[in-house]
Amino acid sequence: MIQRAAAAGCRALVLTVDSAVFGSHERDNRHDFHQLPDGLHCENMRDAGEVRPIQMSPEFSWKHLRWLQSVTDLPVILKGILHPDDAILAVEHGAAAVIVSNHGGRQLDTTPASIRALPAVVRAVGGRIPVLLDGGIRRGTDVVKALALGATAVGVGRPVVWGLAVDGGKGVSAVLEILRAELEHTLLLCGYGSVRELVAGLLLLPPGEY
Ligand SMILES: Cc1cc2nc3c(=O)[nH]c(=O)nc-3n(C[C@H](O)[C@H](O)[C@H](O)COP(=O)(O)O)c2cc1C
Repeated sequence: MIQRAAAAGCRALVLTVDSAVFGSHERDNRHDFHQLPDGLHCENMRDAGEVRPIQMSPEFSWKHLRWLQSVTDLPVILKGILHPDDAILAVEHGAAAVIVSNHGGRQLDTTPASIRALPAVVRAVGGRIPVLLDGGIRRGTDVVKALALGATAVGVGRPVVWGLAVDGGKGVSAVLEILRAELEHTLLLCGYGSVRELVAGLLLLPPGEY
């Protein structure tokens, strides 16, 4: 899979570190949802005609990151960091970047919103590697708030899937275009010409109170 990603032109690998086991999805349990229905499968898990199930490992540890780094030249980004101490460990273990994320709220219940966790992670990382954020990015205003708090970039989960469901690839492009236009509009209304000018002082209230 790593080789296929590199051959397809991917410029980094993202290793999800908040999912040693599945989170508890109570609605899925109520609907007795265990696996994808026949005919649907995780396309990236298809291997020479055989579809492999998703496997998670409670033994997952830093040594697996070292292994991954040893078998690829691609930068490895860690996704699912919320605690500043983990961000420091990520830097020390050679992560190329971290993504502050609570997995869209789908793994551990009651974790803080990623936007609230972001400032402490940015402080801990101290500019040594890029800090990205995902979770709840729905509007250009959300992007501006994350960047003002020190994120290098943001990721978008569900809105991309919604666009895909509505109109395939064109729907995804439309979602990203709406976000881009809203981002530009927000910057203008805040008096900025570019995202590079954004500073933390822009936000009068703590993240989450907007
Ligand atoms: C249906 C669904 C499946 C997901 N599966 C994965 C996954 O396999 N691995 C992963 O790292 N994140 C997974 N995520 C989390 C997303 O990568 C991302 O962190 C999250 O959706 C961002 O929040 P947002 O949807 O509010 O933008 C999934 C999210 C959804 C909604």
